[in-house]
Amino acid sequence: MALAAPDAGPLTVRRLGPDDAGVYHALRLRGLEEHPEAFTSSAQEEAARPLQWARDRLADAPARPHDFFLGAFRGPQLLGIVGLQGRYRPKERHNATVVGMYVVPEVSGQGVGRALMQSLLERAVALPDLVQLDLTVTEGNEAARVLYARCGFAEWGTLPRAVRIGERYLGKVHMVYALR
Ligand SMILES: CC(C)(COP(=O)(O)OP(=O)(O)OC[C@H]1O[C@@H](n2cnc3c(N)ncnc32)[C@H](O)[C@@H]1OP(=O)(O)O)[C@@H](O)C(=O)NCCC(=O)NCCS
Repeated sequence: MALAAPDAGPLTVRRLGPDDAGVYHALRLRGLEEHPEAFTSSAQEEAARPLQWARDRLADAPARPHDFFLGAFRGPQLLGIVGLQGRYRPKERHNATVVGMYVVPEVSGQGVGRALMQSLLERAVALPDLVQLDLTVTEGNEAARVLYARCGFAEWGTLPRAVRIGERYLGKVHMVYALR
């Protein structure tokens, strides 16, 4: 992917919609391929999904009012993504999970991940039913762990052997953020 220089305009973060499905799916697949240890989804299962899967995921769904995906752009170029997925059973409706954070390596360390998370937190706090957010990060993924901690997430435990990559088991650190 040819990327604009860092000075090619301001960074903007906006909600992605069905028309962004192509670039969203391509970036997500790139992230899964580059970082199999960071995500629970695998590139193989996701590559098999039709574009319509991404269109549905990015569409506004009245039954899933806490779900949204954000993209960070410089000009027309999508540089990073993150999503929020709600849980909708009555007793856990106040929780939602941050998913799929990925920033292309060409712009890593330039604040794109932080901008995505800050925008997600602003949108999440405006959703009146939500009380807290959770996420998991694979043990050893210090970049993500530091990013989340800097944004206010607190670690509360680790699930050992949460994912298996080939013959290797990896633990997942669980983090929580209080919205109110
Ligand atoms: C983790 C990731 C999203 C960070 O994105 P980024 O745009 O490079 O992060 P930022 O530049 O916004 O940095 C955010 C904070 O994290 C810290 N950070 C970023 N990379 C770091 C690293 N390699 N080591 C330690 N801290 C790091 C920065 O210092 C910054 O803190 P500060 O603002 O207080 O200085 C990106 O590296 C990535 O996509 N990694 C691969 C996929 C992945 O692991 N996703 C997360 C799945 S849970």
